[in-house]
Amino acid sequence: MFVNDCLNVNENGHLTIGGCDTVELANEYGTPVYVMDEDTIRTACSSYVQSIAKYYNGNGLAMFASKALCCKELCRIVNDEKMGLDVVSGGEIYTAMKADFPPEKIHFHGNNKTAEEINMALDYNIGKIVVDNLYELELLNQLAKAKNKVVKISMRIKPGVDAHTHDFIRTGQIDSKFGFALETGEAMEAVKKTFQYNNVELTELHCHIGSQIFDIDPFVTAADIMMDFIGSIKAQTGHLITELNLGGGFGIRYSAADKPTAYDDYMNAVSKAVIAKSAQYNIPVPFIFIEPGRSIVGEAGITLYKVGGVKDIPNIRTYVSIDGGMCDNIRYALYKSTYTIVNASHADKAPDTKVTIAGKCCESGDLIQENAPIATPRVNDIIAVLSTGAYNYSMSSNYNRITKAPIIMIKDKTPRVIVKRQSYDDLIQNDI
Ligand code: LLP
Repeated sequence: MFVNDCLNVNENGHLTIGGCDTVELANEYGTPVYVMDEDTIRTACSSYVQSIAKYYNGNGLAMFASKALCCKELCRIVNDEKMGLDVVSGGEIYTAMKADFPPEKIHFHGNNKTAEEINMALDYNIGKIVVDNLYELELLNQLAKAKNKVVKISMRIKPGVDAHTHDFIRTGQIDSKFGFALETGEAMEAVKKTFQYNNVELTELHCHIGSQIFDIDPFVTAADIMMDFIGSIKAQTGHLITELNLGGGFGIRYSAADKPTAYDDYMNAVSKAVIAKSAQYNIPVPFIFIEPGRSIVGEAGITLYKVGGVKDIPNIRTYVSIDGGMCDNIRYALYKSTYTIVNASHADKAPDTKVTIAGKCCESGDLIQENAPIATPRVNDIIAVLSTGAYNYSMSSNYNRITKAPIIMIKDKTPRVIVKRQSYDDLIQNDI
C-alpha cells in the first residue's frame, strides 16, 4: 500500500509504523516528531553486508555515511550490524566515539578538514583519512609527524562520472570541489606526491559519483575507471593500491515512481567489473568499501506533524499549515524534492484533493510539498511525510528559534526516544 514496507493502516484508519499507531505516537511525543523503524534500518544494513559476502567473498566493508543521520544510537545500530562509518566532521567523529564506535572502522572525509579535526582523528586513531587536496596532504603529514604517527590514507578521485542526472555523464566533472581530477593528471601527481611523505601511507582510492542514483551502469563505469587508474599507478610507480572505495549514492523510494535497484544486482555487477579488471592488470582483487547513507535510513523514517490552519485560495491553491517545516525538512526548499504525504489520521481514505503543505517559518519558500495528493486534511489531523529518515534530522536547523524535533525509534512495536526534543533552554544555552 505504501512505498515504505514498515507502514500500514490499522482498524482506526490510522497510519502505523512498525506496528505502532502514528496518531497515538503524535499524541504521546508531540509534533513534529521523526519516527523510525529499527527493523527497516537493520534489514538495509544486512543486505549490504550479505551482498558483499555473496558476490565479493566478504572481501569488503559497507560503511554507513553518517551525514545521512548522525546520532549515537544510529552509530550503535550500524556497529551492531557489522558496518563501518563514514564521517565528515569533528562533530560526527565525536558522536561516533561517544557511541563507542570502533575507530579503525571509520573513514574521515571532507574537502576542508581543519587542523583541529585532523588532530582529533589522529588522537582517536581513526582508521583512514580520505585526502581531498594537496594542501591537506601536506598538513596531514605534518600533524601526523608531530604525533610520531604514520596514518593510513585514501585519496578522493573525481572519476569523471557524474550520475546526478538520469542520463549519467561520462566526461568532465573537473568542476567539483571534491577530490583530484583524473583527466588532468592531477590525481596521478598527487599519488606520486604521497610517496615523498613519511607519515602517510596510501593504501586506498575513493570515489563517489552522486546520490539518489537508480542505474547500475554509472557505478560500474566508475569502478572500471578507478581500476584502470590503479593499474596505471602500478605501471608507472610500482605501487600497489590494495583497497577501493566506491562511495554511496543508492536511490530510495520517495514516491511510487522511484524504482531502486536491488543491492545484490549492484554488488553483482560491480564485483564482476572489479574482479575482471584485477585479472586484466594482474593485481590482487582489492578490498572494497561502499558508503550507503540514504538507503540505510531513508525509507525507515517518517515525520509526523499536526495540521493548523488550512487556507484555501480559490482557483490558486490550498495551503495546509503544519507545526514544523524547513527547520526539520529543508529538502523541498533546497532541491524541490518529491515526498509522499499521507493524512495519518485518515490513512484508510484515498486522496481526494491536492494541497500545498506549508511550514511555520517566516519564509515563503518554507514548503514541504506542492500539489500533494491527500485525503482532505482538517485542523488537528496528523500528517505524515514519508521517507524522511535521511538528510532531514541531519540537515535540520533552529531557524526562527524553532526547537529541533525528537527521533523516536520503533522496535518490536515499542517506541523509544533516541534523540530528545530540544528545549527552549537548549536553544539559549550558548547565549551569553
Ligand atoms: N560517500 C560520500 C563521500 C558522500 O559524499 C556521500 C553523500 C555518501 C557517501 C552517501 O551518499 P548516499 O548513499 O546517502 O546517497 N543532502 C543531500 C544529499 C547529499 C549527499 C552528499 N554525499 C540530500 O538531501 O539529498
